[in-house]
Amino acid sequence: MLCRSAVFRYARRFFTITATLALGSFNTFADENDLNSQQVQRGAYLLRAAGCVACHTNPEHNGIFLAGGRALKTPFGTFYTPNITGDPTHGIGNWTESDFVTAMTQGVAPNGTHYYPVFPYTAYSGITATDLTDMWAYLRAVPSSLTSNREHDIKFPFSIRLTNWAWKLMFFRPTTYRADLTRSPEWNRGSYLVGTLGHCGECHTPRNIFGAIKSRYAYAGTKHGPGGEKIPNITPDQETGIGDWTQNDVTWLLQTGFLPDGDVVGSSMADVVEHSTSHLTAGDQSAIAVYLKSLTPIYKQMPTKKGPAEDNINNW
Ligand code: HEC
Ligand code: HEC
Repeated sequence: MLCRSAVFRYARRFFTITATLALGSFNTFADENDLNSQQVQRGAYLLRAAGCVACHTNPEHNGIFLAGGRALKTPFGTFYTPNITGDPTHGIGNWTESDFVTAMTQGVAPNGTHYYPVFPYTAYSGITATDLTDMWAYLRAVPSSLTSNREHDIKFPFSIRLTNWAWKLMFFRPTTYRADLTRSPEWNRGSYLVGTLGHCGECHTPRNIFGAIKSRYAYAGTKHGPGGEKIPNITPDQETGIGDWTQNDVTWLLQTGFLPDGDVVGSSMADVVEHSTSHLTAGDQSAIAVYLKSLTPIYKQMPTKKGPAEDNINNW
């Protein structure tokens, strides 16, 4: 028979052990929570940097955050962005992280169909694995919305998703972002922010008749931008690009939307500044400026309606 003091001793030991275990597991739990909240914060920042918020939130009808519905006019018809909140029926609440990674880097939906490249997975394909994990953590934390997706209103044959498969065969190669070790860390950060996350080329680079980017003319602007907008040349060409801008001029624009001449940037770039670049850290804004100023200048005259034909030699 156990004497009372032995019972107490056992009881005390039992409590000490369980308390230690509980505390131990509580600590792990706290660490996980901490890690998760750091990921959520990083993810929130990355979603801003990548412009997801601007496209997946409908500014008309007082759009709900990331609930989609924004209309994107293209030569192929009008696309409506989907709801990417965590609602299982209307959003992507049923997705796994790996579904998300596949969508972002391969342009393939969980049911195996192919996305239209108006969702810029062509640029996002190079997002790093860590960044994708953090973006996913953030998407899980965003309040769900019951907003239903709207069908795209696009012309035949583009209305058939199989055309995306053919398009991808011709124009899409999944990429992995690789740092250029001959350049500074700041330049590399800028290259990642401009080329991958910020997908600046989706607007600033001209496209061929199939809507694929002409990388030879990267960032040289186009008169056929999204929604029929004219998009300026942001290579450092003195005459037709941003060659006479200082680095500060670029960061000032990214922060405030003000151009060097005191005018305010307009049309879709105003959205980019409001929803994306103005939320970036000063370090990231300056990395973008460093990168843009380092590009090979491309001479490209914007077309003038009545200008002589030779003015249009370099137009595309
Ligand atoms: C230029 C506008 C645009 C930007 C920027 C954009 N998307 Fe999208 N996204 C779309 C469109 C349009 C679709 C629908 C494509 C389709 O139907 O083939 C889409 C589809 C998606 C889907 C698939 C949803 C589903 O229900 O199948 C996910 C997930 C997604 N986007 C996440 C993101 C994230 C995360 C970002 C930022 C890193 C982002 N998108 C940036 C336009 C955009
Ligand atoms: C949705 C399309 C779109 C995206 C994405 C976009 N831009 Fe723009 N950008 C424009 C348009 C349109 C203008 C011209 C605005 C105007 O006419 O006032 C512009 C203007 C600019 C200018 C001013 C050029 C000048 O000569 O006035 C700079 C610099 C610039 N963008 C940099 C960027 C950078 C850097 C990114 C990526 C982080 C980016 N843009 C992404 C559409 C876009």
